[in-house]
Amino acid sequence: MAERRKIIIDTDPGQDDAAAIMLALASPDEIEVVGITAVAGNVPLDWTSRNARVICELCGRTNIPVFAGAERPLLRQLVTAEHVHGRTGIDGPQPDLPDPTMPLQEKHAVDFIIDTLRGEPEGTITLCTLGALTNIATALQRAPDIAPRVRQLIMMGGGYFEGGNITPAAEFNIYVDPDAAKIVFASGIPIVMMPLDVTHRVLTLRRRVEKIRAIGTAPAIALAEMLDFFERFDVEKYGSDGGPLHDPTVIAYLIRPELFRGRDCNVEIETESALTVGMTVVDWWQVTKRPHNAHVMRFIDDEAFFELLTERVARL
Ligand code: RIB
Ligand code: CA
Repeated sequence: MAERRKIIIDTDPGQDDAAAIMLALASPDEIEVVGITAVAGNVPLDWTSRNARVICELCGRTNIPVFAGAERPLLRQLVTAEHVHGRTGIDGPQPDLPDPTMPLQEKHAVDFIIDTLRGEPEGTITLCTLGALTNIATALQRAPDIAPRVRQLIMMGGGYFEGGNITPAAEFNIYVDPDAAKIVFASGIPIVMMPLDVTHRVLTLRRRVEKIRAIGTAPAIALAEMLDFFERFDVEKYGSDGGPLHDPTVIAYLIRPELFRGRDCNVEIETESALTVGMTVVDWWQVTKRPHNAHVMRFIDDEAFFELLTERVARL
């Protein structure tokens, strides 16, 4: 069994973020969710900080502290993705999932990240990022001492062989805040990167969504309805049977790392060019001498991934 991890999930829910949060909450033997920090991305912060609590309540976990973080990127205007995720960010369930009763924590997400990393023993907290890296970069700017204290940062973001999904060159999480990504990739924190090269291989095929719906519980049905909505954009765009279920790959890695294959690489972030801003330049073929700063994943056992997700969601 994988080592039990204490994690902070930094997220912009998002139907696929919801799936990731559900997978984490359904896996207490492997994962302790110390807190969830919301960031603006798929939808504005008011929605992402609401949606994180909605998902916790859907899973019966109102004890998970949820914090609001950055409402916009470090330097740039916020770009959102309602065209993919809908007005609420977690469109799909009919009627919409109810507003949360659990409160938002008073503390700012960045302060929670700093305080947790300083307060817990060094090397015991893993950061799992599912959105733009604004909260993490802000914490690093404000408290550089926390970088060596991070056990690992598992992030969904970037793309190389698969290109981009918000521009031809850039994946959405990096594109929203490329300056934050540049800071994080230069931080020295051990990074595991789940790019589009992996997530485009985990498609919400109809048979997979129906297996989740057939579980028949409220969380499972709500997730299936979120995936029904989420995939329609990608089916139109990619012509594929189902959409890429990006974010749960981050959590699945902590539970079954053997499902993944990749390699240590240098990754640089383009922040200057109007044409390619937000691109993750991955030196996969090691053609430079630039230092390896990330373990970049490229392959996943997609059937086993969905078996894991389905088996765990059934536990909620
Ligand atoms: O590009 C996909 C990523 O952007 C996912 O994390 C999705 O939720 C959005 O945040
Ligand atoms: Ca996300």
